[in-house]
Amino acid sequence: MKLPGRVTICEVGTRDGFQIEPDFIGTELKIEVVDRLSEAGVPRIEVTSFVHPKVVPQLRDAEMVMAKIRRRPGTRYAALVPNDKGAVRAVDAGVDAIHTVLSASESHNLANVNMTVAESLDRLRAVMQVADRARVPVACGISTSFGCPFEGEVPVERLEHVVAELVGMGAGAIGLADTTGMANPRQVGRVLERLVPRFPDVVWTLHTHDTRAMAIPNILAAMEYGVTHFDSSIGGLGGCPFAPGASGNVCSEDLVHCLHAMEIDTGIDLDRLVAVSRRVQEIVGRALPGQIVKAGKSDRRYPVPDGVSARLPTPRP
Ligand code: COA
Ligand code: ZN
Repeated sequence: MKLPGRVTICEVGTRDGFQIEPDFIGTELKIEVVDRLSEAGVPRIEVTSFVHPKVVPQLRDAEMVMAKIRRRPGTRYAALVPNDKGAVRAVDAGVDAIHTVLSASESHNLANVNMTVAESLDRLRAVMQVADRARVPVACGISTSFGCPFEGEVPVERLEHVVAELVGMGAGAIGLADTTGMANPRQVGRVLERLVPRFPDVVWTLHTHDTRAMAIPNILAAMEYGVTHFDSSIGGLGGCPFAPGASGNVCSEDLVHCLHAMEIDTGIDLDRLVAVSRRVQEIVGRALPGQIVKAGKSDRRYPVPDGVSARLPTPRP
């Protein structure tokens, strides 16, 4: 396999994850989770979003969260924005980076941000100007890149057109999002085979959802095509409120465990990350989909059963 030596993880649990939690999570608890993620060495955190507070009431405290988190040098604190109004709020709140959102498919874009794709692209041009003036880097995410819950297949030409528009307005970092877990590894390979050579200067991120248990296989496929940036969510929280059937992102601690097992560096302290996941389970009041929290790391060992140890043959060289 062609694997990188190091990958960069962006934790999106406090945004993609918390946004679908029906009960309001106290601002102090959100801050605690972000701070613990920082302490675990997570290099990038999408802390919250600056969207309409009536549309996503859970994240209506975005300004307060940004104001009170403890900034660790080495962690980049970003927020998601759909338009220039959101970008102004994010810049005023002191984000280190802006993550934008639009969809490759028209129906999901209308359902999510109440704009056609062309209207969204216009708004994102305005976002770029706000970010430029503030000298804040922008990364552009494209939802439904690999399929839309309303329209089904999203032709790669369509995705390519949206990428070209974003690159044309100066985007240097682009995230391909599999919003409802429709992608499969071969498809991820086909899409990257087409996009990577056409846009060689773009830094690509893969944003996966594990809705159909294909998130880690898709990440492996993307690494084969040179992608080294991945979004993931603590405990496997996550889902889009405007995409029926959406469920959690790839689980951060499961992904980090998988990468470390393959000797791929992330800079993250896995034990601390697992501890954050346990804390998030307490906060949301239920077990989350992550496997490592339940199974332990692969170096976990159990005592040899009685009767077995006495019969073990002497090990031979
Ligand atoms: N933050 C706060 N308020 C905002 C805003 C933002 N980012 N963008 C627009 N508004 C306000 C406007 O100021 C206006 O307020 P007013 O009525 O007091 O004048 C009002 O919202 C309507 O503005 P408009 O541009 O017509 O927005 P809209 O109602 O068409 O909603 C979005 C568009 C993008 C703001 C809304 O659909 C949204 O927030 N979507 C985000 C969805 C999301 O987070 N999905 C999950 C992440 S993938
Ligand atoms: Zn998502």
